Amino acid sequence: MSVVIANNIRKSFGPLAVLKGVSLTVQGGEVVALIGRSGSGKSTFLRCLNGLETIDGGDIEIAGHAMSRKPALLRELRRDVGIVFQSYNLFPHLTAGENIMLAPVQVKGEAKSAAKEEARRCLALVGLADRFDSYPDMLSGGQQQRVAIARSLAMRPKVLLFDEVTSALDPELTGEVLAVIESLARQGMTMLLVTHEMGFARRVANRTIYMKDGVIHEEGPSAEFFTNPKTPELQAFLRSEVG
Ligand SMILES: Nc1ncnc2c1ncn2[C@@H]1O[C@H](COP(=O)(O)OP(=O)(O)OP(=O)(O)O)[C@@H](O)[C@H]1O
Ligand SMILES: [Mg+2]
Repeated sequence: MSVVIANNIRKSFGPLAVLKGVSLTVQGGEVVALIGRSGSGKSTFLRCLNGLETIDGGDIEIAGHAMSRKPALLRELRRDVGIVFQSYNLFPHLTAGENIMLAPVQVKGEAKSAAKEEARRCLALVGLADRFDSYPDMLSGGQQQRVAIARSLAMRPKVLLFDEVTSALDPELTGEVLAVIESLARQGMTMLLVTHEMGFARRVANRTIYMKDGVIHEEGPSAEFFTNPKTPELQAFLRSEVG
């Protein structure tokens, strides 16, 4: 079953064409990595997929929802499409648990007791079962990012989008966040992740996509993609990322 179907997506900011016809299908349970140079359109593409940017052309179906500009339909779509950014955006005056409970209570109308139980379950999934009552400033960057992932999981999304979620972290904290994503992959979560971690993409993503100048320049099963890149542009990119 296809969880993401993006067909010929186009997006410009004023005169700047950022996405020039991007098509991508992601199957349920698949993990797809999106790589490419700064400015190639990776974040813009992810933002289009959950309606944070309007598209100028093409069409999107994600988690069973057709993309819409209607606020009510967009809200329904976003319940099923989690997105995690480089910045964690946790509310500093709420505990980790309260941050996670917020959307289930306010958006889904869940009872507080049920949301609390769900928050505990999600904190355990990211290895923070004992930090329910910690405020964000008592947590490391890696722990805060794991709380942000738990917050997404609490909505029980059908697909998760990650945009360079480890870029703000020191190397020793990056590993613990990547381990959480890897465990979600093993549990069958459908994920699309923009990353600079080539080793991680190679190991965890079923498929990797190289974006260049607003188009998919090359893609393939990760094993093949990294060992045998076909285009000179991808070969040069992979060389520059390694060393
Ligand atoms: N809201 C916006 N208004 C105008 N230009 C934008 C906007 N958002 C992105 N852009 C431009 O679109 C282009 C693609 O940006 P995008 O953030 O998608 O790239 P990226 O591949 O995610 O890069 P990076 O690796 O640096 O995160 C860039 O030239 C950027 O300056
Ligand atoms: Mg980006």
